[in-house]
Amino acid sequence: MCGIVGYVGPQQAQDVVVEGLRRLEYRGYDSAGVALVSGGAIADAKKAGKLANLEKELADRPLPASGTGIGHTRWATHGAPNDVNAHPHLGHDRRVGLVHNGIIENFADLRARLEADGHVLLSETDTEIVAHLVELQVASGVDLTTAMQRVCQVLEGAFTLVAVDAEDPDRVVAARRNSPLVVGLGEGENFLGSDVAAFIEHTRDALELGQDTVVTITRDGVEVTDFHGAPVEGTRYHVDWDLSAAEKDGHDWFMRKEIFEQPRAVADSLLGRRSQAGLLQLDEMRLSDDEIRDIDKVIIIAAGTSFYAGMVAKYAIEHWTRIPVEVELSSEFRYRDPILDHSTLVVAISQSGETADTLQAIRHARTQRSRVLAICNTNGSTIPRESDAVIYTHAGPEIGVASTKGFLTQLVACYLLALYVAQVKGTRYGDEIDEVMRQLEAIPGHIETVLAGAEQVYDLAREHVGTRSVLFLGRHAGYPVALEGALKLKEIAYLHAEGFAAGELKHGPIALVEEGLPILCVVPPRGRDQLHEKMISGIQEVRARGARTICLAEEGDTRIEPYADALVRLPRVPVLLQPLVATVPLQLFACELATALGHDVDQPRNLAKSVTVE
Ligand code: G6P
Repeated sequence: MCGIVGYVGPQQAQDVVVEGLRRLEYRGYDSAGVALVSGGAIADAKKAGKLANLEKELADRPLPASGTGIGHTRWATHGAPNDVNAHPHLGHDRRVGLVHNGIIENFADLRARLEADGHVLLSETDTEIVAHLVELQVASGVDLTTAMQRVCQVLEGAFTLVAVDAEDPDRVVAARRNSPLVVGLGEGENFLGSDVAAFIEHTRDALELGQDTVVTITRDGVEVTDFHGAPVEGTRYHVDWDLSAAEKDGHDWFMRKEIFEQPRAVADSLLGRRSQAGLLQLDEMRLSDDEIRDIDKVIIIAAGTSFYAGMVAKYAIEHWTRIPVEVELSSEFRYRDPILDHSTLVVAISQSGETADTLQAIRHARTQRSRVLAICNTNGSTIPRESDAVIYTHAGPEIGVASTKGFLTQLVACYLLALYVAQVKGTRYGDEIDEVMRQLEAIPGHIETVLAGAEQVYDLAREHVGTRSVLFLGRHAGYPVALEGALKLKEIAYLHAEGFAAGELKHGPIALVEEGLPILCVVPPRGRDQLHEKMISGIQEVRARGARTICLAEEGDTRIEPYADALVRLPRVPVLLQPLVATVPLQLFACELATALGHDVDQPRNLAKSVTVE
């Protein structure tokens, strides 16, 4: 949600900043802009729409050479996505230029005060107010760093701010509260970005910043303080992926590339999880065995795709550990007065580690003395930093806005957590845990098999270009898969799509079924339970009413054949692990259908990859 870049150094700041914005564009693409310091003035350019519009503007009207600049790519909150509301915003005298990610909650008050003092505000944004406030401070004689510290003290809400001062050409100052910001450490140059992708081609050395900090970068220095000017330490780390991970690698979309990366991502997430003695180990987890034995309830909180990973996790955790699990949307969690105490483990699942709803939910949980464990893909992000424990997924950077490898690796982390708790609590025998681990370790190969059949799924997708509505059915762990399949289609193909628990259909939604309606059915593996048979009953019910069924069923399942208008085969895996293979054709289906419809798959309308406002 909004990408932010800052640079000071010997290179052309415009090039570095625009390139950084290109890598952050997944965070928002309602508008883009840059501001450079040159010859004692601020030179800026900003354009509504995607970054390409700004690039065209810069090609037509290049900005002067400069080694100091800031940039922004926007996901609109205050004010329509037009040129005027685009960032950077400037102060009254065009001395300070500033970009912002987040929401200033007391902006109405601040705006009224500025207007009463004669300030003319050009935009509808909360950001422009901050630019004016910072400029008032520098005009009073303090430097940009002090100005930023003072202004942050009066701001409420969530923000990352990055500013430049026309009269202080070699300094960029940033601040963060509840919104992401990292520093890239170079040689004779330094960088700021919402995430490391912004500067990964220049440096892989980064500095993680704590909450409520102000950071000043110059060519040769980085200084971090709190909002009152007291020095604080950032945490240095080395990024373990490189530029190639942030490129499309011959694919038309990042999303497609990321779907095809899933065998590797799942394998990486499983790597190093077993000790020499064969016991499961979760190194970064930071919960003692005693703390784990204490857990008598698990509450999973998450948003979007991560929420569906949480739904799958419920089946796994309850089955293997016999601990009751609740799954809750993070935006709803704290408003329902949840029952929490020190023996409740709250598991927050977040690919980005920055989702504001989830962050606020874990803060609430911690005030109630619950332990919080984060499952997260982004090193150094806020949610794992504020949690008691963490399991990192190792998907690598996910850039397509619709999550794919992020989801599969979250599932892996959830299975690992469930098995680990089972190991510590002794609710499952070691050989059973071992057997599940072996099944998990075979999953990357199974995903390869599904991906090898991509063309069949693409053909099916292209057949549905004229379709207005698609339903998805699943049961048990296949139910969240159906929900995720529907979400993918909504997100990138803008189609009406809904997922249902197959058994629930007859209680209402079956009224939606009409002649020719496509229904994708996630068929559970055949087992000792009745799941498979019951699913077939559900499929019969919709076929009898004219639906066209596309069934995802395991290899060797001949029983399904008479009920499938089209059949996509899945490798044989246990029902609890089936989401790891069954989700993949649904991702391919959505990606191909959206492509055939001519949509921008990586940057779907109205969405942002990481939503840092509540
Ligand atoms: C946004 C994204 C979704 C994502 C959700 C949760 O809405 O568009 O793809 O699933 O946020 O994100 P998180 O980073 O917390 O997993």
